[in-house]
Amino acid sequence: MRCIAETTARPTLAPGPADRPAVVLRAFRPSDVPYIAAIVEEGLHERYDASLYGSLSVEWPEGFLVAADPNDVPVGFLLGVSQVVREGRILMFAVERDHRAQGVGALLMDEFLVRCRARGFRRATLEVRVSNATAIRFYARYQYSVVDLLRGYYSDGENGYQMARPL
Ligand SMILES: CC(C)(COP(=O)(O)OP(=O)(O)OC[C@H]1O[C@@H](n2cnc3c(N)ncnc32)[C@H](O)[C@@H]1OP(=O)(O)O)[C@@H](O)C(=O)NCCC(=O)NCCS
Repeated sequence: MRCIAETTARPTLAPGPADRPAVVLRAFRPSDVPYIAAIVEEGLHERYDASLYGSLSVEWPEGFLVAADPNDVPVGFLLGVSQVVREGRILMFAVERDHRAQGVGALLMDEFLVRCRARGFRRATLEVRVSNATAIRFYARYQYSVVDLLRGYYSDGENGYQMARPL
């Protein structure tokens, strides 16, 4: 899996630009899969079996965050897992193209870090293509730094960076 949530009692609202209604954070639901799969295909250039999303969320449902528009349609998501003791790992993270640079990614990342701390995690990690300057800049703003070069990590042979930050 490359770099590529029934969770909150209170939904979290993205501030959103004045001319666009707010985006709400909520838990993943099975009915989200077609929308999330489309975001993954467009943003991460990957196609996964539809059953993957539900199965990855079983162990830590609160790690799977969905940003939904006012019609409750997913416009972004962050799928975090915990495979190493006291670590949260971002397995997939993407926002639909038309909703980028509006703070949706920040909303997802802020809440992910809150949930990692609530679980007592000490570290958050992720993998990113070395060519993905936009995402690397985003992560650097969140105090992630490169901890490893992953040679040929992606299916097309591209190298990846592993990035991590303390919590
Ligand atoms: C990485 C990604 C998830 C970030 O999501 P996003 O919703 O665009 O993130 P934000 O809007 O919070 O921040 C993005 C930029 O927009 C800026 N921004 C945020 N709100 C803004 C607003 N209202 N007006 C103008 N700019 C704004 C942020 O400052 C940030 O700029 P910076 O990265 O230069 O510091 C998104 O670019 C994406 O889906 N990329 C494709 C998939 C991908 O690469 N995923 C990561 C794989 S490892």
